Amino acid sequence: MNRRYRKTIIAGNWKMNNTLSQMKAFADEIRPIMPKSKACTVVLCVPATNIQAAARMFKDCHIAIGAENCHYEDHGAFTGEVTTEMIKEAGAKYVIIGHSERRMYYNETDFAINKKVIAALKTELIPIVCVGESLEQRELGVTMEHIAYQVKCAFANVPADDARKVVIAYEPIWAIGTGRTATAEQAGEVCEGIRAVIRKIYGAHVARSVTIQYGGSMNARNAAELLMQPDVDGGLIGGASLKPADFVEIINAANQE
Ligand code: 13P
Repeated sequence: MNRRYRKTIIAGNWKMNNTLSQMKAFADEIRPIMPKSKACTVVLCVPATNIQAAARMFKDCHIAIGAENCHYEDHGAFTGEVTTEMIKEAGAKYVIIGHSERRMYYNETDFAINKKVIAALKTELIPIVCVGESLEQRELGVTMEHIAYQVKCAFANVPADDARKVVIAYEPIWAIGTGRTATAEQAGEVCEGIRAVIRKIYGAHVARSVTIQYGGSMNARNAAELLMQPDVDGGLIGGASLKPADFVEIINAANQE
């Protein structure tokens, strides 16, 4: 973390979990235990059907709401999709773009992801762009090449003033939902590499203000060590964000200096 230059952001990604009533139970449980410190920004990315209620429910505990996906067009015949404007009007401030599950199960390409980043920025939503290598890529030694390509595609045609608003989440695919977390050194090394890619495109000023999160089996036990890395500015948390007490412990770790 380096709070002098950029925000620390802890974001939950609920994926396809929690109905409205389950979300209400979560809110009732987290409200009394939410830390008072505002050192880190807290976000919950929830299913589209929950966004509007979530924005109201979590307002008093200072948790901002995000969507988990969006379309890049601003209207049209795209059955089942939602626009950035719809998400924004429902009350979201963030949107996850290019999660590996969307790349894998819905064939999302880097080109579509770039268009989504541009659409989100145009709507003044903060994109959380996910990048990450597979186990095969790590074993072949092409992790950084692959991630540099994903980052370059995501930022294509994004002006510097907008680029500084983008959040990047480094999520090694082999660490997602497996309980197998990247070591703090592995996470730190890739996040540093991502910042170097941004520096090459936009210069040092923009690079140092971009928040880069780590995601992949981050939990109450390993969060503090991961966040000690200078280029790891927060976390994108799946499983552990479904349990109020665990999520709060991660927020507490991020609130430490
Ligand atoms: P887990 O924390 O469950 O590994 O999920 C990480 C993730 O995919 C967040 O987007």
